[in-house]
Amino acid sequence: MSEPQDRVIDPEAKPGDRLDHALRPTRLADMIGQTQIKENLQILIEAAKQRAEALDHVLFYGPPGLGKTTLAHVLSNEMGVNIKVTSGPAVERPGDLAAILTNLRAGDILFIDEIHRLGRVVEEVLYPAMEDYALDIVIGKGPSARSVRLKLPRFTVVGATTRLALVTSPLRARFGATYRLDFYDLDSMHEIIKVAAGKLEVVTEQEGIAAIGKRSRGTPRVALRLLRRVRDYAQVRADGTVTQNVARQALDLLNIDPRGLDEMDRRVLRAIIEKYSGGPVGLSTIAASISEEPDTIMDVVEPYLMQLGFLERTSQGRVATPAAYEHIGLEPPRKQQPKLL
Ligand SMILES: Nc1ncnc2c1ncn2[C@@H]1O[C@H](COP(=O)(O)OP(=O)(O)O)[C@@H](O)[C@H]1O
Ligand SMILES: [Mg+2]
Repeated sequence: MSEPQDRVIDPEAKPGDRLDHALRPTRLADMIGQTQIKENLQILIEAAKQRAEALDHVLFYGPPGLGKTTLAHVLSNEMGVNIKVTSGPAVERPGDLAAILTNLRAGDILFIDEIHRLGRVVEEVLYPAMEDYALDIVIGKGPSARSVRLKLPRFTVVGATTRLALVTSPLRARFGATYRLDFYDLDSMHEIIKVAAGKLEVVTEQEGIAAIGKRSRGTPRVALRLLRRVRDYAQVRADGTVTQNVARQALDLLNIDPRGLDEMDRRVLRAIIEKYSGGPVGLSTIAASISEEPDTIMDVVEPYLMQLGFLERTSQGRVATPAAYEHIGLEPPRKQQPKLL
C-alpha cells in the first residue's frame, strides 16, 4: 500500500485557483440558486444530524463549473466533519483506495471527483465500503492466501461527475441521493457576480453585471473568470468601474460573443455547418477536424450549445439547428428549415 497522501489530490491546491477558493461559498445558505438541490440537501443534513449518523452517500452530476466541488465542501462544513479529496484517475490501484479508506474517521466525507474515471477493480473495493462499511483484503499469496474483512467507520462518499452515463450502475445504485446541477438562471448569475464583485472590491453598475451575466453561459466559474478579466480592463482602460460599456468592450476583446459563445464554441458550430453541411456528424470527427479533445467538446461545449438550442444530439450524430446558422450569420439549408404547419 502506498502512502495515502500520495494519492490524495486536492484541486484547491492548484496555483491560480486561489481566487476561486476565496470566492467559494462555505455554507449552504451562501450558495446562490439551485434552490431545489439546496432544500433537498438541507433535509439530508438535518436528518443525519438529528440521528447523529454519517450523511448518506451523495452523487452530484452536471457540466463543469456549476458547483459540484463547492457543494462537497459545503456538506463537510454543514456536517462539521473532515473532507478528504481525491479523484477517479488519482486512485490507480485498490491499495490506494484501501489506504484512503482506513484513514477515514467516523462521519468523514470522502470526495471523489470525476468518479466515472475510477477503475473497475478499484470500484469493486468501493462497493462493500459504501454498502457495509467493510474492506476486504487478501493476506498472503497462493494457496495460503485468505481474505480478511476489516470494519470501516461509517463515512460518506460524495461523488462528482460530468458524465453520469459513464458511472456504472452498481456504483450509481450505492448513492442514497443523486442530484443534477443545471445551468443557472440570469437572476442567480447576477447575484453570484454581484457577491463576487463585492468580495473582490470591484465597483460595478447593475448594467455591467448584467452584461457579464449574459455572457457567462449560466456557469458560475465562467462568470467569476470573466468578472476578473473585466475588472482588469476597467482598471487599465477606464476608471475602474464596471459599466455596461466597459464590460461589453472587455468581453468583445476576449472574443466572447453576446450569447456567451467563445472561440471554441464557434469553431465547433462552424465545423459542423461548413465542413459537414450542418450534420449529422460524429463527435470524434468534429473533434479531429478542429484538433480538440472529444471530452472537452462533450463536457464543456455541447451542454451549453444544446441549452441555447444551437445543437442537437441525434443517433446519427450532432446536428446544427437553424438558430445556430443564424447565430453564425449563415443561411440555413432548406432541409433544416422548420416545417410550416
Ligand atoms: N451556487 C453558487 N453560488 C456561488 N458561487 C458558486 C456557486 N456554484 C459555484 N460557485 C463558484 O463557482 C466556482 C466553480 O464551482 P465548482 O464547485 O468548482 O464547480 P464544479 O466542481 O461543478 O466544476 C467556485 O469557485 C464557486 O465559488
Ligand atoms: Mg469540481
